[in-house]
Amino acid sequence: SNKLTIGMFGFGVVGQGLYDIIKTKNLNLEIKKFVIKNADKKRTLPADLFSTDPETILADPEINTVVELIDDAEAAYKLTVRALKSGKNVVSANKKMIASHLEELVDIQHEYGTSLLYEGAVCGSIPIIRNLEEYYDNELLHSVSGIFNGSSNYILSKVFNENQQYADALKKAQELGFAETDPTLDVGGYDPKFKVCIVASHAYGIYVKPNDVFNIGIDKLGQQDIRFAKEKNLKIKLIPTAKEIDGNKVVLYVLPRLVGKESMLYNVENENNGVLVKAAFADEQFFYGKGAGGHPTGSAVLSDIAALRYGYRYEYKKHLESSALNYSQDYLLKV
Ligand code: HSE
Repeated sequence: SNKLTIGMFGFGVVGQGLYDIIKTKNLNLEIKKFVIKNADKKRTLPADLFSTDPETILADPEINTVVELIDDAEAAYKLTVRALKSGKNVVSANKKMIASHLEELVDIQHEYGTSLLYEGAVCGSIPIIRNLEEYYDNELLHSVSGIFNGSSNYILSKVFNENQQYADALKKAQELGFAETDPTLDVGGYDPKFKVCIVASHAYGIYVKPNDVFNIGIDKLGQQDIRFAKEKNLKIKLIPTAKEIDGNKVVLYVLPRLVGKESMLYNVENENNGVLVKAAFADEQFFYGKGAGGHPTGSAVLSDIAALRYGYRYEYKKHLESSALNYSQDYLLKV
């Protein structure tokens, strides 16, 4: 049978969330081993399921599926390459790792006939990658943009709607498990930048390195910006954008933007995310859902695990031929 025997790296917010979901179900899968960094941490599962040695997963021929949910992007990259090259499929939620190495990871999948899926890496529970892969196959996408970082949006919601202090709201986002271990990645606009790079690969068939994309985060906003937006009955949202120009180029950037009531993004609050797709023929669609947190992200990871059972792989079909990077005149204009 096509039973999945899983080795899981990391057992943090997303790993726990995934485990909670899996144990309520009767799925044809077994988590054989968890590899974790800190052996001393108290665990709710039997101790013999845990190891600190990656080889207990990577060198076990019985394990056919690796679920990678660790923090360190470079360590995650090495594990993922090893796993893919040894015939194991990989599910990851590591947006930094994927955005930084995607082109090479795609080549490795082709060479070794394995599959890497990462719906959980982009906008938590919103199935945007699979929709870009399949549904919009014959479309020209004018743009894909939205709210891709739950922590920044949570902070902005608290500051705007409840007059909370920025630092208090950030602390709360960390306590709730939305923020990255280094929250600069969130509030500096890096996390949504990783996500928009991944989105661009599926929307346009291009590979863009995060370092080549311009980003400003919400940590650059001041009281005067909040006041200005409020006076005009607008909100400020952190908006990553990938958009087509001249029919053959794509620009990417991440910026705080002013958003009015007429925008679907206006009512996206707290850790929710929203993805706006503008297409030549389908016109506009809006995807909304929880963008962070153990259960929403765990559910996306489980969806990928289940898809591996029928051999699902991303195809990265090209839509555009060339790419150009810069941020255009959109800076701080209203969405
Ligand atoms: N730190 C991320 C966020 C987690 O706040 O959106 C989900 O990728």
